[in-house]
Amino acid sequence: MTAQIISGKELSKEIRAELKDEVEQLKEKGITPGLAVILVGEDPASQVYVRNKAKACEKLGIHEITKTLPADTSEEDLLALVEKFNEDPTFHGILVQLPLPKHIDESKVLYAIDPLKDVDGFHPVNVGKLMIGDPYFLPCTPHGIQEMLLRSGNDPARKHVVVVGRSNIVGKPIANILLQKKEGANATVTICHTGTDDIAKYTKDADIVIAATGWPNTVTADMVKDGVVVIDVGVNRVDDPSKERGYRLVGDVDFEGIKEKAAAISPVPGGVGPMTITMLMKNTVRAAKLAHGIED
Ligand code: GUN
Repeated sequence: MTAQIISGKELSKEIRAELKDEVEQLKEKGITPGLAVILVGEDPASQVYVRNKAKACEKLGIHEITKTLPADTSEEDLLALVEKFNEDPTFHGILVQLPLPKHIDESKVLYAIDPLKDVDGFHPVNVGKLMIGDPYFLPCTPHGIQEMLLRSGNDPARKHVVVVGRSNIVGKPIANILLQKKEGANATVTICHTGTDDIAKYTKDADIVIAATGWPNTVTADMVKDGVVVIDVGVNRVDDPSKERGYRLVGDVDFEGIKEKAAAISPVPGGVGPMTITMLMKNTVRAAKLAHGIED
């Protein structure tokens, strides 16, 4: 079997083209969606993420500002900046790049963001609203996974989805999204994690496997059935002396092995990664609509 490759890169182009039209329509109504990004410190990976977010906004015509604060910024000053953006109607979305320096209480900062501007979907109000099936915003990576399944013709409805990993930003929310009694969801969901003795027992029964563990090769070909659909959320660096930079990126699943058995599989890179920023753009447009009472 030759597996269908679910390209997040291609799907992102499609979704971003749709968003660009939406932004233009909003601008005709006098509304320019705005996103405020706050970066504390100089973590190189965070700097790359933040730059990519800014570029994506620019391409879509979304107004964007990145505030970069020094690593020794006090919690009080950061909270004051969040508050300033909460009150500024030109910014519909606020994103505080994580991780924050150790002396700052991350949850205190996330709690301070107005839930109606919380385009990451990390505020407990949004986490709770997702649980009861009434979210303002879905968190970006899980939302991107759901879109990848739907737009590649792999509707999770009535399927057995096995999520491997229980993080607050991927595993728990994607399980929650897919079990809702809604279009594009309505799956039977199992979550496996480090406390699961025999993960293969569950993945072997899965129609769809979503791997989000942060470890290469957590899911291998012997652990899945023929015709499985696999979404690989992992981004892991493994040493590779043949590359100039000395490493290559791999996901959490054995792509080469599984692609012989799977009906569809997402690659790394070019899979879930590009979808995360695309969904952030989608949430920012949604935030602008919510602020102006426009239905999606
Ligand atoms: N750091 C790594 N990924 C993310 C993300 O999706 N949102 C935020 N705020 N910080 C991150």
